[in-house]
Amino acid sequence: MATVGELKLFTGTANPRLGASVAEQLGVPLGNVDIHRFRCGEIYVRYLETVRGDDVFVIQPFAAPVNESLVEMLIMIDTLKRASADRITAVVPYYGYARQEKKDAPREPISARMVADVLTTVGANRVVVIDLHAPAIQGFFNIPVDHLTALPMFVDYCRARRISNGIVIAPDAGRVKTAERLASRLDMPVGVVYKRRPSHNVSEVTHVIGEVEGKTCIIIEDIIDTGGSVVNVVEALLKGGARPEVLVCATHAVLSSDAPVRLSHPAIAELVVTDTVPIPEDRMLDKISVLSVAPLIAEAIRRIHGNVSISALFN
Ligand code: R5P
Repeated sequence: MATVGELKLFTGTANPRLGASVAEQLGVPLGNVDIHRFRCGEIYVRYLETVRGDDVFVIQPFAAPVNESLVEMLIMIDTLKRASADRITAVVPYYGYARQEKKDAPREPISARMVADVLTTVGANRVVVIDLHAPAIQGFFNIPVDHLTALPMFVDYCRARRISNGIVIAPDAGRVKTAERLASRLDMPVGVVYKRRPSHNVSEVTHVIGEVEGKTCIIIEDIIDTGGSVVNVVEALLKGGARPEVLVCATHAVLSSDAPVRLSHPAIAELVVTDTVPIPEDRMLDKISVLSVAPLIAEAIRRIHGNVSISALFN
C-alpha cells in the first residue's frame, strides 16, 4: 500500500479530547506540540518532535472562541510547512464561518471562501471536514476536500429508538437532501419547514410542508447555535399537531448564548449531537446524547494515509 511519509497526528487546543480519542482509535500517539499564548494574546506554536517528510494531520474544529481556533490552526499549519512536513492535512470537524458562504446582501463578505483561501495559503495540502453547512464550500478549495458525514451515526441512533409513526423534518430548505437520506434509511416520510431570517441569529418559520399530525418528528440539523431555529421549528410542528416528543439530531452543538435554556423546551425529548465541538459542562443538558466522530475521523485518516478510497465515509 503506497503511503506518504510517517503518519503524525497533532491536535490544537479547541477540542483536545477529540484529538486524543482519534489518536486512540488510530493506535498512534498524539504528537508533541507546545501551544501557548503570549501575554498580549498572540499564539505561539512549536513542534517538539521532527515532522520532516511526515504525513501530518492536525485536528482543530473552529469551536468557540472561533477566531482563536482558526488562527491557532493557521499557525499550526504554517509551522508544519516551515518544519518541512511532507503533506499537511487540516482536519476541521466543525468548519466555522460556513454560514457565510454567499452574499445575501450587498457589501457582505464570503467568509467561508476566505477561510478556505487562508487555510490553503498557509500550507494545507488537503482538508477533512464533517457535515458542512453548505456542501458547495468544498468547491472553495483548490486542494482535495474529504467531506465526511455523521448521518450514519444518526441513522443507527434513531433505528435503536424504534420510533413508530415517525417523520423526518428538514428544518429549512438547505437540509432537505440530508433529511431525505435519513428518511429513506429509516423508512419514514419527510416534512420540510420553511423559514426566513429577518436578522442575524433570528429565524421565523413561514410554513410546514408534510403531514405531522400525531407523528413523532425527527429534526435533522447541521448546527445548533443559539437554539432559536430548532425551537421555532418545534413550535411550528406542535401547531401542526405533532406529538410533543421531538427528537433532534444535529452534528455541531455550538450551543452559544442561551441555547441551553431554549433547548430545555419540554417538547424536545432528546437532542443527539456529536463531539465535533466540545460542550462545556455548564451548557450540558440531561437530554443531550453525544456521539463521537472519533472513529469516523480515524478511519478517514487511516484511508488517506494509506491512499485507500474514502468515499464510503461520505454517505
Ligand atoms: C442555518 O441555516 C443552520 O442550518 C442552522 O439552522 C442555524 O445556524 C442554527 O442556528 P440557531 O441555533 O442560532 O438558530
